[in-house]
Amino acid sequence: MITLKSDREIELMREAGRITAYAHLKVKEAIRPGISTYELDKIAYEAIVSQGAIPSFLNYNGYPASICASINEVVVHGIPNKKTILKNGDIISIDIGAIYRGYHGDAARTHYVGEVKEEIKLLVERTKQSFYEGLKFAKPGNRLSDISHAIGNYAASFGYGVVRDFTGHGIGRNLHEDPAIPNYGEEGHGPILKKGMTLAIEPIINLGTYRVKVLSDGWTTTTLDKKPSAHYENTIVITDEGYEILTKYEGEEIDV
Ligand code: MF3
Ligand code: CO
Repeated sequence: MITLKSDREIELMREAGRITAYAHLKVKEAIRPGISTYELDKIAYEAIVSQGAIPSFLNYNGYPASICASINEVVVHGIPNKKTILKNGDIISIDIGAIYRGYHGDAARTHYVGEVKEEIKLLVERTKQSFYEGLKFAKPGNRLSDISHAIGNYAASFGYGVVRDFTGHGIGRNLHEDPAIPNYGEEGHGPILKKGMTLAIEPIINLGTYRVKVLSDGWTTTTLDKKPSAHYENTIVITDEGYEILTKYEGEEIDV
């Protein structure tokens, strides 16, 4: 069941989103060769609790950290740890969620570590752009799969692998609510978008094959061909005019 949020609920989600984005900003500032993903996790945890919120992911289905930190061929759900150290040329996808007064924000960004190969930078930029291609269809009256189609079509036009095993999702009182939002598919299907729907849209795009595998820790997911993967996500709300992005920090240049 898709729940439509009231203005009061959206206000709380705006705050959850602001805190999620604030934690992203703090992590981004710390990213450099030599830092461990454990340290990045601590920075995000402190940022979230300092704002009166709780990390959404910590203990979610047993997940042991506040963020996912997924380097290069790790697609999603990389578990922060002291031994995983960033090095020059890496890309790292950071996924963060925060609960504020019972409502969640969820967002992901992929960052460069030092100097990154042009081919990989393009993957990161186009993954972000695929989110915005989907967003063009986020308005009342459109169908959910119009967003999915726009994301997948754009990413596939570069020959990238569009990951199918993970989707975006509704969000609100729960981190994952209906509907699932695939990053591919035919347009014109699925629920009609309505004002008050809150959605986490999150393209996950691979340089090579779309196929992925989950490692023995039950979380870490890598590409099958070990080529890099990028992730970009925001929580949005459908408005009368179209949408509002909730996971941004005051002053954040979100679409550059
Ligand atoms: N942003 C991810 C998602 O939407 C985060 C879930 S990670 C988990 O599914 F650890 F919390 F599961
Ligand atoms: Co999500």
